[in-house]
Amino acid sequence: MSPAHKRYRDITGDGGSDVVGQVTAQQARLRERMAAIRSVVAVVSGKGGVGKSTVTANLAACFARDGLRVGVLDADLNGPSMAKMMGVRGRSLVVAGGAIEPPASRLGVKVMSMDLLLPSDDAPLTWEAATQDEAYTWRGTMEANALREFLADTRWGALDVLLVDLPPGTDRLATVASVVPVLAGTIVVTIASEVAHLIVKKSITAARQARARVLGLVENMAGLFSGPDGARLACEAGIPLLGSVPFDRAMAEAADRGESFIERAPDSAAARAMLAAAAAVRAALALRSSDLPLAPPAVD
Ligand SMILES: Nc1ncnc2c1ncn2[C@@H]1O[C@H](COP(=O)(O)OP(=O)(O)O)[C@@H](O)[C@H]1O
Ligand SMILES: [Mg+2]
Repeated sequence: MSPAHKRYRDITGDGGSDVVGQVTAQQARLRERMAAIRSVVAVVSGKGGVGKSTVTANLAACFARDGLRVGVLDADLNGPSMAKMMGVRGRSLVVAGGAIEPPASRLGVKVMSMDLLLPSDDAPLTWEAATQDEAYTWRGTMEANALREFLADTRWGALDVLLVDLPPGTDRLATVASVVPVLAGTIVVTIASEVAHLIVKKSITAARQARARVLGLVENMAGLFSGPDGARLACEAGIPLLGSVPFDRAMAEAADRGESFIERAPDSAAARAMLAAAAAVRAALALRSSDLPLAPPAVD
């Protein structure tokens, strides 16, 4: 697969190829590949820069530390950051039997990101289209297609949870929801600012429209901003507050080094907040590491 070179014609039809048939076949392969994944959870915000990727990376580490089998899909195709944050950036991909083996972090979290496929550090993902206007018009469709390809070609194996790190934008969850077989829930991330809350509220509505259960809200960078707090937003939106994670420079530094913050500073307030949020998510999903014997995936 080469989503980096995805062609506009591949998706919109080129007057001969059976595009609908291809997508249907790919969707079937995706279902098989994902058959041994117990729950897919999307981390959303609507707003950029609030810490979706940081929360995703830390939740994944918390789950893995507790013995769950965890995967992370970086659905931010244009600004991928999970490979770097999870310390797998630059790892060469193993392709076997037509599938990509996602590299695993030190804690065993399997990571799949566009970053692992792009040829160089400064190469952005570009959509090949006849004109830039067309690329813009078809962006959602192309993203859905690239994600479908990703998921159809990645050998996750058996997972208890697959966390999907979304790009900013309130429409992105609908794209992911249209591709994955079942979305077990969403985790909404915000910061204490009115601007963030305005957009996050739209994301909560979008999650409900996508029939994705909102597992709760994580307030991030607590203490840094003086706007309305997460507890108020959670209360207004009628969703649980999963935790309030303080701003901690060591957390950003760990992310930059690809290290697991919860292992480095397990007693910090930020790590404890992440662990509590992870426990709340597990409880909401009823995920226990003991009762999970799943058949290996049918495809190789
Ligand atoms: N609680 C926190 N304390 C300190 N830095 C944080 C915290 N959460 C996120 N950051 C930093 O803020 C920046 C943006 O976070 P990121 O997770 O990339 O946001 P998003 O995915 O929502 O765009 C990153 O540099 C990250 O390391
Ligand atoms: Mg991000």
